Amino acid sequence: MTQTIPATMRRVALAARPKGAVTPDCFRIEELPMPQPGPGQFLVRVIWLSLDPYMRGRMDESKSYAKGVEIGETMQGGAVGEVIASNHPGFAVGEFVVGPFGWATHALSDGEGVRKLDPARAPISTALGVLGMPGHTAWVGLNDIGQPRAGETLVVGAATGAVGQVVGQLAKARGLRAVGVAGGPDKCRYAVEELGFDACIDHRAAPDAKALRAQLAEACPDGVDIYYENVGGKTLEAVIPLMNVHGRIPVCGMISWYDLGGLGMGEVPGPDRLPRVWRTILVQRLKVQGFIIFDHNDRFAPFEEEVSAMIRDGRLKYRETIAEGLDAAPEAFIAMLKGGNLGKQLVRVSDDPTRGVKA
Ligand SMILES: NC(=O)c1ccc[n+]([C@@H]2O[C@H](COP(=O)([O-])OP(=O)(O)OC[C@H]3O[C@@H](n4cnc5c(N)ncnc54)[C@H](OP(=O)(O)O)[C@@H]3O)[C@@H](O)[C@H]2O)c1
Repeated sequence: MTQTIPATMRRVALAARPKGAVTPDCFRIEELPMPQPGPGQFLVRVIWLSLDPYMRGRMDESKSYAKGVEIGETMQGGAVGEVIASNHPGFAVGEFVVGPFGWATHALSDGEGVRKLDPARAPISTALGVLGMPGHTAWVGLNDIGQPRAGETLVVGAATGAVGQVVGQLAKARGLRAVGVAGGPDKCRYAVEELGFDACIDHRAAPDAKALRAQLAEACPDGVDIYYENVGGKTLEAVIPLMNVHGRIPVCGMISWYDLGGLGMGEVPGPDRLPRVWRTILVQRLKVQGFIIFDHNDRFAPFEEEVSAMIRDGRLKYRETIAEGLDAAPEAFIAMLKGGNLGKQLVRVSDDPTRGVKA
């Protein structure tokens, strides 16, 4: 089916680097002439944009595992879209794709990092969440790094978010006790009643790490074997003393510290807790391993096979929080970083013809 291609597109550019928390004036929404695909390129109409915590790091100047966004550049991000014009032999008009299309209504691509989607297999938005990068991250971090064994206890922070919701349910499916930490009573109720966590502690209601630890100790009577680290901060401080001998800590993220930017050793305000953490790693013989999901692309196929089967037969549930329209992306991103989302945070940039929903 041919589509009329508009004369202009919109994008969200980085206008200023955040000083601490992200604010709306860090972003600028711009209208540009619609780009035309050159030889070997295709044009994508973006349908779903993914908003992810890693984008906070890309807004800083300091070097991380990937290059940041320059001022004036389009914000980076994964998105799902439809090919609407193509000079690429491998991508035809009408095909649905997921790739690094950025915060924009349209994007040109040469096919690098792009995967085709079959809307008959799963809703195409899931390629950004439960069947995409966050789900894959949960699966690799839990299985390959966490090495779970039935009967053990797992704790995960941001338990009802894109990664955490999958970690908890996979842990339960493998016979572990799963204890979540999440922000607010509604999220905690959802974690236990809908996702099947054994318990969930509200970190926002705990005044400090000591209070959080007391609740976690009660919820984990046999100690903690796997701490799936998503958040750092108070939760990490609460869990460390509860770790069992030979425990494992897959270090996936540390969202509570992202606003510190690139502060170095000794530059972070507050008391130094490193000696206590380091001592526990030694005394309890913990295995602590950081990982970045793009090093584990070889594990995508087994992840997708297992998790799509679990979704099909109702053993794994997931939620999406949807903001409407590209212009809503900055506010939705800021809200997500503060816990405004349940499950995967998405932006519906344009109509999803596979859902029959109007934007
Ligand atoms: N290593 C990798 O390759 C990789 C890949 C994907 C994601 N990650 C990391 O995994 C973590 C979760 O990512 P996601 O995409 O699933 O995001 P998400 O959990 O869907 O959304 C972020 C959540 O973080 C929680 N949060 C915010 N500030 C917090 C704080 N100060 N203390 C505790 N929790 C806080 C909020 O949940 P509450 O309301 O429950 O507090 C918020 O909903 C992030 O750290 C992310 O960077 C790493």
